[in-house]
Amino acid sequence: MGAKSLTIGVFDSGFGGLTVLRELLPLVGDAHCVYLGDTARLPYGSKSRETIVRYALSSARFLQRQGAELLVVACNTATALALDELRAALTIPVVGVIEPGAEAAADACREQGTTPGVLVLATQATIESHAYARACAALGLEATEKACPLLVPLVEEGWIGEDGDTARASVTAQVLRIYLGEALRDAPESRALLLGCTHYPLLRTEIERTLAELGRPLRVIDSAQATARVVARILSENGGAHGASTGIGEATCEFFATDSVRKFERLGSRFLGRPVGEVQLVDLGG
Ligand code: DGL
Repeated sequence: MGAKSLTIGVFDSGFGGLTVLRELLPLVGDAHCVYLGDTARLPYGSKSRETIVRYALSSARFLQRQGAELLVVACNTATALALDELRAALTIPVVGVIEPGAEAAADACREQGTTPGVLVLATQATIESHAYARACAALGLEATEKACPLLVPLVEEGWIGEDGDTARASVTAQVLRIYLGEALRDAPESRALLLGCTHYPLLRTEIERTLAELGRPLRVIDSAQATARVVARILSENGGAHGASTGIGEATCEFFATDSVRKFERLGSRFLGRPVGEVQLVDLGG
């Protein structure tokens, strides 16, 4: 019998973390990925630090009970507010999205040879934590942070124009114009824009279009790819250290949600870029 596949736990407050899983799957060989969307308690981004830490810990512990040998916190808010607590509480490696995102932004600024300034869009809790400002400063990058609390509900409700509903998509476009207009006024030096929330990659095209309309076509950076590369690096550095194989082969996935599995099955495919299949309901309490 071959070596057991590595089990990777991935969690987000909702569907957004599927944008990270999407980038992860091609890089993790035959790993088994267990994804939890804590949809019953979404949004995390408007909650207090204490509540976010409590939710993140219970989500992570659930994944550890499912056999996770490595945890990816595919949620900026949980990474910003609870990464230290998760690392202290768990006995498995924990990867967040903020440091990889900041590194990707620093690389993009270096490539452009421009002033090292980046505009970060994220939830209220992530912005108030200043986790991005700290991670960017550690890399010599100045971050201007902008909270965009309306964007997660718009994405969760699917107001992103994919189904040809232009009236709803135009509401989202209007909201983006206001947020980006305000943010750009505060960030005259920024040359890159970091999507500091796992929901925002779904708005990437609209964000790029709005930036162009506003005459500031900043390079848009998404932490999903950078996070997936960090996970792949840990796996190759530890090759077999967790008693598992990540050899050639296709990764398998299992999905859990804490609220309507039907909604997860329907909307999750937008984030994952392919059908999510069957989703199991789990109750993690309040
Ligand atoms: N996934 C969260 C993040 O990346 C956004 C959704 C929420 O507020 O829970 O920050």
